[in-house]
Amino acid sequence: MISDKFENKEGTITLTVDDLTGDTKIIMSKGMFSRMSPDVEKVVKGLVYDEVIGAKGKVAKGGKAIFASDIVEPDMPHDFVSNKAKEDVYAVFTSDFHIGSILFLQKEFENFLDWLNLKNNRIDIAEKVKYILVAGDIVDGVGVYPHQDKELALSDIYKQYDFAAELISRIPEDIEVILSPGNHDAVRISEPQLKISKKFAPKFYDMKNVHLVGNPAYVTMEGVNVLMYHGEALDNLIRAIPGLSYSAPEKAMKEFLKKRHLSPIYADIFPSEKDYLSIENIPDVILSGHVHAIGYDNYRNVHLINSGCFQGRTKFQEEMGHVPTPAKVPVMNLKTHDITWLDFGENSQ
Ligand SMILES: [Fe+2]
Repeated sequence: MISDKFENKEGTITLTVDDLTGDTKIIMSKGMFSRMSPDVEKVVKGLVYDEVIGAKGKVAKGGKAIFASDIVEPDMPHDFVSNKAKEDVYAVFTSDFHIGSILFLQKEFENFLDWLNLKNNRIDIAEKVKYILVAGDIVDGVGVYPHQDKELALSDIYKQYDFAAELISRIPEDIEVILSPGNHDAVRISEPQLKISKKFAPKFYDMKNVHLVGNPAYVTMEGVNVLMYHGEALDNLIRAIPGLSYSAPEKAMKEFLKKRHLSPIYADIFPSEKDYLSIENIPDVILSGHVHAIGYDNYRNVHLINSGCFQGRTKFQEEMGHVPTPAKVPVMNLKTHDITWLDFGENSQ
């Protein structure tokens, strides 16, 4: 496990890793990079603190350092075959409604509800929707960041969930809705996060087609496995790895699979003997939100989907230069794995 990473002026990279002997240095000089495959250099540039790696090379005298000739991450096998449904049904992937915020895009969200009720374009897809997965930040929450009260239309968390339940109750009852929490929901900050409780959202518990799960959560629909993870760790990955950005979250999501962990850089993780954030079972889809920008990629047969949001651009996002892509919703045919992005923008329906 990497505890330190240092690059000197000459381009030599030294990793300090925890291993069974205590700690060891892994040294890679620039000259060594020139003899390695370009893939290894790419892997090394993307290494982050706390991730688990393997190293091959020559052990230095005294055994406290390795001059590495190869570095490997846990990564994905090359021969993963994804699961497909037998029936021609669709799943909708969405997140980050931020209900209760003054920037919640109610009109656009109602366009989405109308579509699900077969009142809009693309009825060919809408009539086959059987599942809606929501990857967190259902409400905007209360006290999530300083002076948030100035940006809230509903400043009471109970009223935020009541209104969310009212809107979600307009989803046809034959569609199963799976709700997972995010960092704005009324759950603990540490991951894994537990499902939203009955105390805060009693109305969700009265709806037969609403299912509350934790974050992260594995959900299986018609044999297709989806790993839902809100995505708070994307912030740390985007900060740490050169070339990653908020406008292409799918590239950061690829790191989940390369490192086989949803929060490779240690963050606020709830202490537990089992690591609930490691990716032991390979899913067919990873669904995240959090960055409010839609994104899609496929890595070794796993679909990586970031589902955007239903919230306008916040002051914080303006200051940070983030441009959200609201009201765009990816849908997937679970039989063919075809993915379509639908736009519920104000004038689109
Ligand atoms: Fe969010």
